[in-house]
Amino acid sequence: MSIIDPLLQPLTLRGLTLPNRVVMAPMTRYRSPLGVPTPEMASYYARRAATGLGAILTEGVALPHYAAADHPDIPRLDGVDVLNGWKAVVDAVHDAGGVIIPQLWHQGPMWNVENVGTGTGNPMRPSGIWGPADGVISFRSEGREESLTSVPQMGDSDIADIIAAYALAARNAVALGVDGIAIHGAHGYLIDSFLWDYTNRRADQWGGDPARRAAFGAAVVRAIRAEIGQDMPIVLRFSQFKMQDYRAVLANTPDALGDLLGPLADAGVDLFDASQRYFDTPIFEGSNLNLAGWAKKLTGKASMTVGGVALDKAKGGAKHIDDSQQSVNNLPLLVERFERSEFDLVAVGRAILNDPDWFTKAKDGQPFLPFDPANLERLA
Ligand SMILES: Cc1cc2nc3c(=O)[nH]c(=O)nc-3n(C[C@H](O)[C@H](O)[C@H](O)COP(=O)(O)O)c2cc1C
Repeated sequence: MSIIDPLLQPLTLRGLTLPNRVVMAPMTRYRSPLGVPTPEMASYYARRAATGLGAILTEGVALPHYAAADHPDIPRLDGVDVLNGWKAVVDAVHDAGGVIIPQLWHQGPMWNVENVGTGTGNPMRPSGIWGPADGVISFRSEGREESLTSVPQMGDSDIADIIAAYALAARNAVALGVDGIAIHGAHGYLIDSFLWDYTNRRADQWGGDPARRAAFGAAVVRAIRAEIGQDMPIVLRFSQFKMQDYRAVLANTPDALGDLLGPLADAGVDLFDASQRYFDTPIFEGSNLNLAGWAKKLTGKASMTVGGVALDKAKGGAKHIDDSQQSVNNLPLLVERFERSEFDLVAVGRAILNDPDWFTKAKDGQPFLPFDPANLERLA
């Protein structure tokens, strides 16, 4: 009998059955030179899959678009060498008994902000706006200074090109044998910058009321669905906070959140990956529900919580993702929320980076390893 027994039951999303409810969260590693996944990456993911996790969500993977990713070591999803590299990763995870779902990523306004990066041309911003000048950030402040100058808003051809790039990336991923497609729609990156009214001031079909701000994300979901067919699940990550400002929010009320998520659910999202700094933080006054709880309640779709599992996190006010990283066993609190049917899945990030065998320890009730921040930098 383990404290996490309730999490050890399968979940079916379309034609995919996950063996349990614990998933590895997407985490960028910057370890794919020129976008090519390496054998070390294959063993990094496979050894975690071998612990029996419900699924592996990969790190963000760059779309085939010049302004998608600002670091040459972020993996891509196009080109022969890249796809051969991925094939080895996908096969290694499957051989270990795992499920692998790549997270498709376009950095949008955040391109060349965290890193001084790849590609030339304008960053992709719905209305040319990067974000507020005074937001709480955790990356290099020069990145913000350089980005505050507005650029031309995305044109119709930019939007069409990027939707096509999502479709191509999904097609390539499916050809590799992945088990589903995840979309990074959070943290102030491209899709989130359409959802967020601060960065989306468009007056055309892609901006305005919440349904129109959700239209770009919905178009991406539909384009991916057209490529991958009806059997594979689509996972969409969204968040209240943004890299441009950790205090910013997407929606101030449940109704406002429902207006944004509804069109995305209708477009074909099967699982909302609700990104929070700490899973035990309520989102709206008058309710204890976390972000995943609201996504599930508002859309009727499955949802996944994330943030601070097995880590002692500063509640709510955490300024930086790296705030307070002591291992702690907060699984009883997590399971209690799960048993209230608040969410369907749990993603675990840094605890699984810190210890590849974390899930085995969680199942067996063994103590967790002390958190070593150096493990955030390794690919092992
Ligand atoms: C090193 C690192 C890289 C990350 N990269 C991504 C990413 O590529 N895509 C994404 O959606 N979230 C990314 N995140 C956020 C995690 O998926 C997760 O939401 C966050 O770490 C909170 O979960 P945790 O407290 O279990 O670590 C990253 C987090 C870390 C620590």
